[in-house]
Amino acid sequence: MNVFGVDIGGSGIKGAPVDLDRGDLADERYKVLTPHPATPDVVADRVKEVIDHFGWSGPVGVTYPGVVTDGTTRTAANVDPAWKDVDAQGLLRERLGGLPVTVLNDADAAGVAEMTFGAGRGRTGTVMVLTFGTGIGSAVFTGGRLLTNTELGHLELGGHEAEKRASTRAKEDEGLNWEQWGRRVRKYLAHLEMLFSPELFVIGGGVSRKAEKFLPHLTGIRAEIVPAHLQNNAGIVGAAMAARAAVEGA
Ligand code: BGC
Repeated sequence: MNVFGVDIGGSGIKGAPVDLDRGDLADERYKVLTPHPATPDVVADRVKEVIDHFGWSGPVGVTYPGVVTDGTTRTAANVDPAWKDVDAQGLLRERLGGLPVTVLNDADAAGVAEMTFGAGRGRTGTVMVLTFGTGIGSAVFTGGRLLTNTELGHLELGGHEAEKRASTRAKEDEGLNWEQWGRRVRKYLAHLEMLFSPELFVIGGGVSRKAEKFLPHLTGIRAEIVPAHLQNNAGIVGAAMAARAAVEGA
């Protein structure tokens, strides 16, 4: 079965039909740039552009880089403040001509995809899927079940918000090399380990493609640390999974 997945990110809005039997994209993904300012209305138009590119009509799952409860976006750390308390699901459904739309947090989507098709498959202990990008997203699982909207990128570490120090944006903005960035990530993981004792950390986001560069610096952590298998497509796959679950549960 194919369902459409869209990932709204700080730099791009990308989407593709997803083959939910294989847990992979069914077609090459299509990406448009995130507009600036990224207000709900303009972003909704771009999401429509991505979907129209494939002539898709069917259920659509959409990730959002902030807290989402019942289809309403609650926070806006790295997007336009106008997203606070917006019925994003309703807005997108209306913009997409009434297609069934499900909106969820981006890291939660990536986490669900990794647990089903990727690096967390079959793991029943506590698993933390972390996505490194403009911010740091988190998805926490135990017994395979997700605790939604955990927001652990905003934990305070050494007087700073963790994502301001250890996201890949921080790496780029401060010109950190892999070792310098890796040291910050290690400190962050050690803190999470002290609080949650996970058996596994899955490192997602674009950096998952460069695991050999940073894994050697993540020493002294008891939990296993692995790169995400679905890499940057995990959000799209997880969004489509959530949309199917919503349609089936309806
Ligand atoms: C947001 C999270 C999001 C993460 C990754 C954080 O700033 O608060 O909701 O999952 O960035 O995009």
